[in-house]
Amino acid sequence: MSVLVSGGAGYIGSVTAEMLLGAGRRVVVVDNLTRGHRSAVPEGAAFVEADVRDSARLEAILGEHGVECVMHFSASSLVGESMTDPGEYFGNNVVGVIRLLEAMHTQGVRDFIFSSTAATYGEPPEVPIPEDAPVRPTNPYGESKATAERILRWYETIHGFRFAALRYFNAAGASRDHGEDHDPETHLIPLALSAAAGERESLAIFGRDYPTPDGTCVRDYIHVQDLADAHILALGKLGETKENAFNLGNGEGYSVLEVLSAVERVTGKQVPAVDAPRRPGDPARLVASSARAKKILGWRPKRVTLDEIVRDAWAWKQRFPEGYGD
Ligand code: UD1
Repeated sequence: MSVLVSGGAGYIGSVTAEMLLGAGRRVVVVDNLTRGHRSAVPEGAAFVEADVRDSARLEAILGEHGVECVMHFSASSLVGESMTDPGEYFGNNVVGVIRLLEAMHTQGVRDFIFSSTAATYGEPPEVPIPEDAPVRPTNPYGESKATAERILRWYETIHGFRFAALRYFNAAGASRDHGEDHDPETHLIPLALSAAAGERESLAIFGRDYPTPDGTCVRDYIHVQDLADAHILALGKLGETKENAFNLGNGEGYSVLEVLSAVERVTGKQVPAVDAPRRPGDPARLVASSARAKKILGWRPKRVTLDEIVRDAWAWKQRFPEGYGD
């Protein structure tokens, strides 16, 4: 089977492409390289530099590579940026999905795995969050993903698409060869590792006055390889279940201070940190109930402790101190 991985030069896409190849699938990566890295595309995958909004190009790629399933990772994914540039988020994440789905429809490809997000829930009324919690995003990023999920339901009803929307909580960690290299970097774990390594003066703790045990935000960190596993399982289950939204998290919440302690334990170095105001749009606590993914997909996260996750991110950083170097 041939799988098109859009965004396969990015963080989660490259790890999933690597694992698909390991599972014996053929992979064609499509990435416009605005945020991805050419050298992140795993060996063994075909690569086409293209934008998913270019329908004609996409149609040709789907046909030429005999694609049977699309895994769609490429998206704009920074909450803060979405609050200042909503057009980019609706353009890339909503228009991009429609163009991609139309190209698939033209080519008769109907299997789709979609990268969605915990940001679709906004401020959840209960934690751990089940999939039937209200979808009330509090930023254009979450709104764009929630909209794309709704659009997908219509392609399912009208055109017979089969899809899974995987709502990631906080992706973290690395495989041996693929890790997190964003520009700009905004995520807690890579920033804390970089502060521990002395590459930046300090790490800003965004708010200590949240209604959480230590006052800092609580998140559910999930290893990127466990996320990749879920994609492969979801692909195998397409069409077998009526459910198509799945939370992917460990079901365990860690505060910002707990993450910093884990980074200090793993690296053996101190993380210089300073207090800073809350970051707009940050909910206090986001923790997944992944019961549905476990029951229906048979998903079992394997790298569940914060220390294991941080250890893999640190190992990758030490192997690739310059990231992908481009
Ligand atoms: C957010 C989105 C998530 C999205 C991800 C990708 C929400 C609720 N979550 O995750 O859906 O996929 O971005 O961009 O919108 N922090 C600091 N100092 C820092 C950086 C972060 O204190 O320098 C704190 C944040 O306030 C947050 C936690 O660390 O509480 C994690 O932040 P981050 O790694 O940026 O991920 P989220 O914002 O949780």
